[in-house]
Formats: sequence, C-alpha cells, structure tokens
Amino acid sequence: MGFKEQIDISRLPEHIAIIMDGNGRWAKNQGKFRSFGHESGVVSLKDVVEGCTDVGVKYLTVYAFSTENWNRPIEEVNLLMELLISTINAEIVTLNKNNVRLNAIGDIASLPQKCIDDLKNAMDETAKNTSCTLTLALSYSSKWEIVQAAKKLAAQVKEGKMEIDDINESSFSSQLTTHSMPDPELLIRTGGEHRISNYLLWQIAYGELYFTETMWPDFMKEDLFEAIVDYQKRERRFGKISEQLN
Ligand code: FPP
Repeated sequence: MGFKEQIDISRLPEHIAIIMDGNGRWAKNQGKFRSFGHESGVVSLKDVVEGCTDVGVKYLTVYAFSTENWNRPIEEVNLLMELLISTINAEIVTLNKNNVRLNAIGDIASLPQKCIDDLKNAMDETAKNTSCTLTLALSYSSKWEIVQAAKKLAAQVKEGKMEIDDINESSFSSQLTTHSMPDPELLIRTGGEHRISNYLLWQIAYGELYFTETMWPDFMKEDLFEAIVDYQKRERRFGKISEQLN
C-alpha cells in the first residue's frame, strides 16, 4: 500500500510548511552546477503542490528565499530571482487549472522590481482559487517578521488606537504576514539538517517537526504523503496528558 492510501483524510494537517533544502548539494553530488539543483527543485515543488491538492491540504508555505540568502554569491541570487520570475509566469495556467491561489510573504519590497510586478500579477490572476493556497516565503525571516509586528503594534499604541494591554497573542498574530492562515501543524525540512533557520518561529510553536535526509529535488508527492502519515501517528497533547485528550 502506498503512503497516500494510508492517509486519514479526516485528520489532515490544514497547513504544511516546508524548508526546501539540499538543492545545491544534490546537484554537486552529480557533478552539476547548483543552478541545476534549483531548477530541479521547481519540479519537486510542482509535484508537492499537486500532492496537496490531491489529498486536500489547504495551505502550503515554502521557504523559497530567506533574508540570509541575499548573502549568497550574486550570480546565485540573480539565478534564483530569474527562476522565480520564469516559474511564476509559466505556472499561472496550471495554478488556475488546479484551483491553487498564489500568495507571498516576506520583505517583498526588497525583491527586484520585475519580481514584485510578476508576483503581484500571478497573485491577482489566481486570487479567486480556493482549493489550496501556496505561499512563497521570499526575502523572509521570522525575526524580521516579529520585529515588524512589534513596530506596527507600537505605532498603534502611540497613535492612541490601542492600549498596551490590548497586546496579546491574538493581536500580535494579526500583525504577522501569515495572519490570514492557520498555524502550520506540520513543518518539513529536507536535506538532512535539523534546524529551523529563522522560519515561522512564532507559527510553529506547537507544530510537529519532520526532518528527512532526502534532498529537495528528490522529494516528491509520495514523500509528502509519507510525512503526513508520520504526522498522523503522533499524539498532539498541547501540554496536556494523554488521558485528557479524548
Ligand atoms: C535550498 O537549497 C534552496 C533554496 C535556497 C532555494 C529554494 C528554491 C527552489 C526550490 C526553487 C525556486 C523556487 C521557486 C518558488 C521558483 P540550498 O541551495 O541551500 O541547497 P544546499 O543546502 O545543498 O546548498
């Protein structure tokens, strides 16, 4: 039996977040350029998005470019930006066919203007789709996002629009870039590293973490299904004891 058949669709994670790591190493292991790894990574992303719509996962948020990725060699940064532009333009038709809405979080204003324009266009073109929301985290870091949220709340207090005592988990969450989505129940990291790398730190407070040695270009929808099956075997206690759960 494949992993897809083992999934209990009544207990799906509503939101899955992924750190797509290992593109560069995957390519180098084959004696190819890192760029080949990133291009192959797009193929995996397409397959995984399809996997989400196959089983009914409502939100998929992928770490496509971190704030720290700006420090890579300029050639690789440019290549990733070009890949982003060509991919989002090429995929609008498929996103619409599969009823997938494209969304982006992060410091979008820091991206090249062509990226900003094409992203906005692809988001507008897919805005009415309802089966799954694919969010690209671009120029994103969680500490950046949390500082932004703190600044917005401070400004509202300063302007007399809210009291300090109105700052709570709910009002804080409402200022995060993910405010319109539920928190991810499952975070997957490919590529063998066991760290979170400044990704959705607030949102994964109670998320289940799934690490795999599989490099991102080798990660396909069947691997996603395997991760979901693993997630469904876990007991999520949220600080309670087992006996309190049912
Ligand atoms: C991590 O691999 C991956 C990235 C920094 C970029 C992820 C990008 C893609 C999957 C393709 C582009 C995405 C879109 C949405 C068009 P790495 O380079 O850190 O690999 P390494 O750890 O082996 O060096």
